[in-house]
Amino acid sequence: MRYYFRRWLLLIAAQLFVVCTLYLVLEDSQIRTLLSTFVDWLEDRGVYMCHIRKLPMVFEHGPEHYYVVWETSCPANGSSLEWWLDGTPDNGSSILRHFVQAQYKMIDKSRHRYSAIIGPAGHATKVHYASNSLGKSTPLYSIARRNETELTRVLVVADNQNGPTEFRRVLASIQSHYGSNSIPDAILHVGDVVRKVDKLSHWHSQFFSPLEDAGGYQHGSPILFAPGNHDHDSERVPGNSNVYTDMYHGILTTDGLRDPAVTNGTYHRFYHTTSLGSARVIVLDSECPSTEQSEFLELELQSAAFQSARFRIVAVHIPPYIEFWNPDAWNKKGEKHWGEQVRLEYDALFRRHNVDLVISGHQHNYQRGTVQRNPQSADPTDTITYAIVGGAGGDLDLERAENWNMYNVTYLGHHFVSLEVDGQQLRWIAKNKAGSIIDQFSIVR
Ligand SMILES: *[C@@H]1O[C@H](CO)[C@@H](O)[C@H](O)[C@H]1NC(C)=O
Ligand SMILES: *[C@@H]1O[C@H](CO)[C@@H](O)[C@H](O)[C@H]1NC(C)=O
Ligand SMILES: *[C@@H]1O[C@H](CO)[C@@H](O)[C@H](O)[C@H]1NC(C)=O
Ligand SMILES: *[C@@H]1O[C@H](CO)[C@@H](O)[C@H](O)[C@H]1NC(C)=O
Ligand SMILES: *[C@@H]1O[C@H](CO)[C@@H](O)[C@H](O)[C@H]1NC(C)=O
Ligand SMILES: [Fe+2]
Repeated sequence: MRYYFRRWLLLIAAQLFVVCTLYLVLEDSQIRTLLSTFVDWLEDRGVYMCHIRKLPMVFEHGPEHYYVVWETSCPANGSSLEWWLDGTPDNGSSILRHFVQAQYKMIDKSRHRYSAIIGPAGHATKVHYASNSLGKSTPLYSIARRNETELTRVLVVADNQNGPTEFRRVLASIQSHYGSNSIPDAILHVGDVVRKVDKLSHWHSQFFSPLEDAGGYQHGSPILFAPGNHDHDSERVPGNSNVYTDMYHGILTTDGLRDPAVTNGTYHRFYHTTSLGSARVIVLDSECPSTEQSEFLELELQSAAFQSARFRIVAVHIPPYIEFWNPDAWNKKGEKHWGEQVRLEYDALFRRHNVDLVISGHQHNYQRGTVQRNPQSADPTDTITYAIVGGAGGDLDLERAENWNMYNVTYLGHHFVSLEVDGQQLRWIAKNKAGSIIDQFSIVR
């Protein structure tokens, strides 16, 4: 009897050990990355039954609309999206539900993409939606719409490209920042979500899958996307490789929202403006300078909406002032001239038109500098802040190539930022993957 009891105990202990080990192994970022890549590989070979391969990802689409994209592993004719609003004036009738027929695009044999536009959302405080493919609905997702006095929390990241394991670690830190019961109100991604825009496996393993495994923020926190040099196809031609990010055509004209994504080669106008709580944000495309973008920038900077906003922000992938890069590539291969228009042309405009904060990626580490907008000005509040947030996962830039004598904080590690604005204050909190604060500042007005 006693003998059996010991065997029994041993068996339980062994099982506990296996379960704990499995748990630890599967929680490990590197194992999760390998698993996710393997599952995607199996998907490509049609091993699974027809199903939703990528759950909806929602992008901000101007002040009133959202663009939602999802994917199935086989054609799902009749896919649709249902959405409705909270906080619209109640006239006693039941909630008005909208059904949108999804636009369909076949990416390849096992990737079938659907997209739909939600809106206009007016003054609603919440948007709810679920998409439907293959006769099944996804879970219900909700997007919070904050007004100018409410606290609006924006997750700021860039350059997770080619670093899914580190990105998963950063995401774990992000999850503990926002807590398990809440999500950021928006995600500002300042470029380079994947290494190669035309490698569909990169979109899965480097972007969609890490986000999904870390709580699926992409379903309910609209992404503001500033394209980087890696993650979009700068060819403005039909059928290019921007299969998940071709939403910004016609963004400024509500009537144009349903136009085809490509009209006579006019494609992907990524530059646009939007609001995040009390902040106004101009998103620029450093990869495709054009006279149209320059004219747009001048007009937007001078607009009443921008000038009267409590906080004025510009998001652009390539920072005006880069200090860390491979020195050889920087000097000998001429990479110092990439995106130079951001410093030579745009920065003078940022300073002239009272921009408070310029947020960039591209350089894979963290830097932040707060300097006088106008060097002649003695007013201590007349400042502009340049922030580089290029450390969501890609290999770090550790070598110095330039010194602009303007950055107050430099951190050579992976990190993220939470930008939190309300009616009086802009708070910037930068944390590393261990959850320690590496930099913070506020602007109060
Ligand atoms: C979807 O079904 C309709 C009606 O049966 C058909 O006309 C259309 O070609 C189908 N589309 C796809 C992508 O299969
Ligand atoms: C209430 O609002 C809905 C949606 O705007 C509209 O369709 C409906 O006719 C309105 N009902 C009344 C009684 O005004
Ligand atoms: C903003 O939203 C909050 C919470 O919904 C509300 O109490 C407040 O009155 C709103 N403020 C404005 C200016 O709409
Ligand atoms: C597109 O090109 C065709 C042929 O060149 C022209 O007739 C049409 O007006 C163009 N459409 C737009 C929207 O520019
Ligand atoms: C940041 O650095 C700039 C340039 O060196 C300097 O003028 C400024 O006073 C510094 N600001 C802070 C808060 O340290
Ligand atoms: Fe980049």
